[in-house]
Amino acid sequence: MYKETFRILSKRLLKHITKEQKKQYLKDISNRLYQTHWWKNSDVIALTIARDIELDTLPIIEEGWKQGKQIVIPKCYPDNHLMNFYLFTNQHELENVYLDLYEPKEDPKKLVQPNQIDLIIVPGLLFDFQGFRIGYGGGYYDRYLANYPHSKISLAMEQQLVKHVPHDQYDLPVDAVISEKNIYQ
Ligand SMILES: Nc1ncnc2c1ncn2[C@@H]1O[C@H](COP(=O)(O)OP(=O)(O)O)[C@@H](O)[C@H]1O
Ligand SMILES: [Mg+2]
Repeated sequence: MYKETFRILSKRLLKHITKEQKKQYLKDISNRLYQTHWWKNSDVIALTIARDIELDTLPIIEEGWKQGKQIVIPKCYPDNHLMNFYLFTNQHELENVYLDLYEPKEDPKKLVQPNQIDLIIVPGLLFDFQGFRIGYGGGYYDRYLANYPHSKISLAMEQQLVKHVPHDQYDLPVDAVISEKNIYQ
């Protein structure tokens, strides 16, 4: 499959960017993020707990906490490829569900509905300048975003940006992609 080829190649690319380089990129990307209206005007922000090959999201989560924002993170259900977001208030709440994948425990008191989220920071492997993305192949975000009414953006290193990624009718573009150099929207 066409998208799968992009997935394999972009995972390989991400593996070859060193931890130090990613740290520097993250610093530049997150500083740019904090200046945006998406960040400033959002009280409830959805993020993922990054996998090893991705840009670390914990510094952003901690900055959000510091600024009094509510951070929510997803729990995925592989049976139906749906996911729910749960309020995340400290690191000990995490559950290691698979290899380097961390998720919240299912606490009904912490469940958050799509319309309660102001901003979703959508993860992905590869992006284009229209905001289309190649994810990990589960379609979790495509399904969730179909019923989500507010802002959605992605954070990416320039190396993860290409002119055009293949997309299907259910793929929804993010409103903007923030890189270490630019904001594409
Ligand atoms: N809104 C949706 N409703 C039902 N199925 C969907 C929806 N969005 C995506 N899918 C399914 O999810 C699968 C994975 O989507 P894909 O775009 O390839 O993955 P990803 O977005 O993770 O890169 C697709 O085969 C598609 O059938
Ligand atoms: Mg998709």
